[in-house]
Order: sequence, then C-alpha cells, then structure tokens
Amino acid sequence: MGYRAEYDSWKADPEAWWMNAAQAIDWVTPPTQALFDRGDHLYEWFADAEVNTCWNAVDRHVEAGRGEQVAIIYDSPITGSASKTTYAELQTQVASLAGALAAKGVGLGDRVIIYMPMVPEALVAMLACARLGAVHSVVFGGFAANELAVRIDDCAPKAIIAASCGIEPGRVVAYKPLLDGAIELAEHTPDVCVILQREQSPCDLGPLDVDWHDFQAGVAPAPCVPVPGNHPAYILYTSGTTGAPKGVVRPTAGHLVALNWTMKNIYQVDPGEVFWAASDVGWVVGHSYICYAPLIHGNTTIVFEGKPIGTPDAGTFWRVIAEHDVKSFFTAPTAIRAVKREDPKGLELKKHDISGLRALYLAGERADPDTIEWAQNLLGVPVYDHWWQTETGYTIAGNPAGLEALPVKIGSPTVAMPGYDVQILDEAGHPVKAGTLGAIAIKLPLPPGTLPTLWNAEARFKSSYLNAFPGYYETGDAGMMDEDGYLYIMARTDDVINVAGHRLSTGAMEEVLAGHPDVAECAVVGVSDPLKGQAPLGLLCLTKGVNRPHDEIRAECVKRVREQIGPVAAFKLALVVDRLPKTRSGKILRATVVKIADNEAFKMPATIDDPAILDEIRDALQTIGLAKGV
Ligand code: COA
Ligand code: AMP
Repeated sequence: MGYRAEYDSWKADPEAWWMNAAQAIDWVTPPTQALFDRGDHLYEWFADAEVNTCWNAVDRHVEAGRGEQVAIIYDSPITGSASKTTYAELQTQVASLAGALAAKGVGLGDRVIIYMPMVPEALVAMLACARLGAVHSVVFGGFAANELAVRIDDCAPKAIIAASCGIEPGRVVAYKPLLDGAIELAEHTPDVCVILQREQSPCDLGPLDVDWHDFQAGVAPAPCVPVPGNHPAYILYTSGTTGAPKGVVRPTAGHLVALNWTMKNIYQVDPGEVFWAASDVGWVVGHSYICYAPLIHGNTTIVFEGKPIGTPDAGTFWRVIAEHDVKSFFTAPTAIRAVKREDPKGLELKKHDISGLRALYLAGERADPDTIEWAQNLLGVPVYDHWWQTETGYTIAGNPAGLEALPVKIGSPTVAMPGYDVQILDEAGHPVKAGTLGAIAIKLPLPPGTLPTLWNAEARFKSSYLNAFPGYYETGDAGMMDEDGYLYIMARTDDVINVAGHRLSTGAMEEVLAGHPDVAECAVVGVSDPLKGQAPLGLLCLTKGVNRPHDEIRAECVKRVREQIGPVAAFKLALVVDRLPKTRSGKILRATVVKIADNEAFKMPATIDDPAILDEIRDALQTIGLAKGV
C-alpha cells in the first residue's frame, strides 16, 4: 500500500488502523479497543491493555532466539572507547539494575530521575525503570543544578541515577557537584542516588549515594512488571513560554505501537539492521530513536558520545556510518551545518565507505535548503526533513520512505503521517486555503503515544495546547500547506527558540536575567545564527543609577544564565539598552528586534557573536531610539 492509501485507510477508521498496528506488540492482555474518550477533549489509547515496554524492547528478542544480536553499539570517540552489548547481555544488565531498584523500594509508578551522558548505562537505566513500571525522567547533562532541582521537585523521584561526569570537548563536566547542588536546592530528597563512576573523573560518594555496581551486588534480577496501557512510561521536561518546564507524559502502550510503526514505514529499517540517531538521551529524539524505537523493533542502536566535528574531525559521522554499516541516520540540521562548515568539499567522506546508507533524516529545527542540498549531493542518498515535537514523540509530518518515498520538496518536511489530521488555522480557528500562513494545529484526538497530559498539570496542559482552538491541539508552530498537502514550518508562535536543535525558553532566560540586581527589565529574543539556527540575544535595561561598566554587567548576566540554566542555553550575547522596544500597550516588539539584529548579522560574513556585529546591532537599535552604548 502506498502513502495515500495508507493515510486514507487510517482516516476511514482510525481505531481499526491502530488496532492493526498494535498487533506488532507483545501484550500481556491485548487491548479490546483502541481509543478511550475521557471527555473534555482528553483521550487515551489502549487503556485496557496490559503490557511491558522492557519486555518488548529487550526480552522478546531474546525469547525469539536473537539474544546474540547486538542491541547497543557504544562508540565514543571523545573518550576513545567503544563496546557492543547483545540483547542477551542487555537483558541481564537491565534485569539486574531493575532488581536493585526494586530491592530499594522502587516500583510501579515511582519516579526515577536519570542524569547521565551518552553511555550505554543510560539506556540500561531507562529500560530498568520500564521493566518495573517506574516512571523515568531523563535530564540532559547540559542543564545546570537549578534546572535539575526544578525537575526533582516537580516529579519527586524516589531514586536518581547519575554518572560521575560527562565529557565535552576540552573539559570534563563533573556531574556530582551539579547533582549535589540540585538536591540542596530542591525541597524533595530522593531515597538514593546510584552513581556510575567513570574513569575520566570518579567522584566521592556521600550518604545518599551508592556505587552503580555495589548497588546491584547480590540482588536478584527483576522480571518485567505488566502495566496498564495508559500508564506513564516516562516524563520528559521541555521548554514552554514560562521558566517552569512542562513535564510531557508519555503513555506506555501508544508509545510502543506508534514507535514500532515508524521504524519500517518512515526509517526504512528491518529488524537486525543498524539504525543511528546522533542525538542525546536527554532529548526526545534520544528517548524515541536512540533507546526505545530501535530496540522495540529489534534493530541495533548506536550510543554515540562525541561531536560531529573535532572528535577527532569532520569525518566522524561518516566513519561511524561506515564502520557499523548504518542503514538510516538521523541527526539535527545543526550537526550537518557544523560538518559542512568544517569540510565543505566533503574530503573526509572520501575516506569512508558509506554505501550501505539508505537515507539521512533531519529534525529538531528548520532544515535550511543549503544544508539539505549539500548533504544530498555529498552523500548521494535522499535527505528527509521531518517535523515533530517532544509532545508527540515521533513524526507528525515526514516522508514515509519505507512505505513509499514521496518526492522531496526542499523546505518542506513533506506530509502528515497516518494518525495526524494537520490543519492550518486562522486566528478565529478556521482552516485556511492552501498556501496561506496560519497556526499549525492537529485535529483531536492526537494519535497513540502522544502526550495525554502534562505531569501534575492538567490545567496547564489545556491552556498550553487545547484552549486556543477548541477540538484541536495547538502545536506552537506556524506555517502553511500547499496543494499537495506538503507542510512548511515557518516559525514558533510562542517564546520558544531553537538553538543548535535544542529547544529553549526565552522566558526562562528572562527570569534569570531579571534576577540580576542591576537589571530592571530585560528581553531575550532568538536571532539567526548560521551554525546553530538561532542564538539567544538579551536586551538589558539597567536599574536607575547603576553606573558600573556595562561589560561587567553583561559578563555577569552571561555567567548567571550558564550557572542557572546551563551551558546548553548558549547565552553569550547581551546588549545594554535604554528601554525595551514596546508597543503602547507594553508588549515587547520581539519580532522588530529580531529583524534588526538579523539584518545587521546578514550584512557581514561572520557569526552573530562577532563583537563587530553586536556593535552594528546596537547602532541599529539606537537609530530607532532604543539602545545606548554597550
Ligand atoms: N553536558 C554538558 N555540557 C554540554 C552538553 C552536555 N551534554 N551538551 C552541550 N554542552 C555545552 C557545550 O559544551 C557548550 O559549552 P561551551 O559554551 O562551553 O562551549 C554549550 O553547552 C553549548 O552547546 P552547543 O549549543 O551544542 O554548542 P557546541 O559548540 O558544543 O556544539 C554543535 C555545536 C552543532 C556541534 C552541536 O550543537 C551539535 O552537535 N548539535 C546537534 C544537536 C542535537 O543533536 N540535537 C538534538 C535534537 S535532534
Ligand atoms: P522539540 O520538542 O525539542 O523536538 O522541538 C520541537 C520544535 O522544534 C517544533 O515545534 C518546531 O518548532 C521545531 N522543529 C522540529 N522539527 C522541525 C523541522 N523539521 N522543521 C522545522 N522546525 C522543526
């Protein structure tokens, strides 16, 4: 069946379509119906089933006689290490950690925070939680103690599983001080912190801590615990408009069914083949496509610890693809832009045989045409942009290449996947004509695996996603659809920005800047950056009477954001201005600032953090009477 027939078949009877997809999953108790309408625009899928995610991702492959197949390839050029874990070994490791967690009282529904770098143990920890029906919340290593503390208080974990350190180019990131700092800041205290000691920087253990290996010594392995289909598999915090992150809840059964479907139909892989998503387990791409989907589908996944460039060179991606015979490769456009900038002629690629590769998949931010064309020409395989969000957990619009490769229109992530009725709406919530810009919304119900609610925040769930357009889910993206149903994603409609494929809240940065004693008022906007897509730019209005050097205040502000949100915020640009550009009603003219900054930046062949460009931006702002000397 081609795409159109498949989409129409879903549309004609969504429940039957999903019940059919559900047959690929091993159920303890199969679902008797697909959709459960809970009223008030709230829905659940496969709620009367019983199932275990870890069984489907690990044990069933061992049972089926594929225990010797490699489940996880760990490739860490940044530490110079590598290893392979078979499905049978993974089962032993996961059951052992789950047994130790169970012995410590962690069970069905208990929360566990995982704060780990890109090591295979991060997947073991996620799967051990899934085995017990415990709800994990993975926190990205580039967040600071304060962000970790906010998540600890929101989900109140019984246990935290962390590593002693992560490795960034040129520096070791000691996790233990960040973890201790977070626990100090948080009101909630976990019962135990399980620490994986890494040789690059082992840490001292405190009274709450136990070593990863000691924790598991002499403990019986745990079996898989069946959980209801609507049980939360995990919580993943993501940026919203305010500083408080939103805890996206992932429901167990829908997650299994939907992710499994995507592996063949979108990513074109069969069980046993190697699939690689070069992301981080701290992001949704890492949850879905480093850990769960490839394992559920019986593929081999790669845990890559390193950067696209400099570890050791711009050929790293191609080396990994060649060495492990990767069939489908998924990364963020930023990573490809970094490689392109370092090796525009693709000389590094010539050293590697990547003939096994079928396609490159890009997501996480807008894929600019230059990057897509460059990659297509260089790699000689199709480059598929696809669009999705933490909230959905998998593709909303993409090219279903495993089902039928549709023509690529550069600039479009292609078409809506079965499960998604995507509509472009005007301000009054009416669908617009093809080619007209509007808010991108999805007709309810959302498909299986997408968020049914936010953790402990149903009212916020409704106000963030459901209230603007009754009967629809508001994606927060604006764009249009052409006559062929191809979508074009143009911009966010809220204050979320996307820096190097990382989703960040300008509101959160503003809260941190406003806490500086000399800052009276501030605004953060996302300005264009040729490498990272966007970069945050802070405008600071100082408190009356402050006459300290502006450079000093700006440096303090940069440090403050790094310390309170984390290095991942990449907040490096701050300008002191007389007043913020506002409308008469007091709304900050963010779009005007972005336009001015982008105009100036595009005039010069340099990056936005070049001091000369900052001067130009300040001067341009001054011409409209907004800014004063930096
Ligand atoms: N732990 C600690 N610090 C981290 C981190 C982590 N896991 N990840 C990033 N950081 C730090 C970086 O070291 C950097 O610190 P610095 O300011 O001291 O240099 C800072 O956070 C900003 O990181 P980033 O924006 O990623 O920039 P970079 O210069 O380190 O790397 C790229 C640029 C393009 C190579 C990198 O962003 C990349 O590979 N991006 C792909 C993004 C991706 O996979 N997104 C997931 C969605 S698909
Ligand atoms: P995240 O939740 O971190 O995955 O970020 C989701 C947001 O990133 C989306 O709402 C979009 O704004 C943006 N995004 C993700 N994929 C794409 C894409 N292919 N094209 C344009 N924007 C994208």
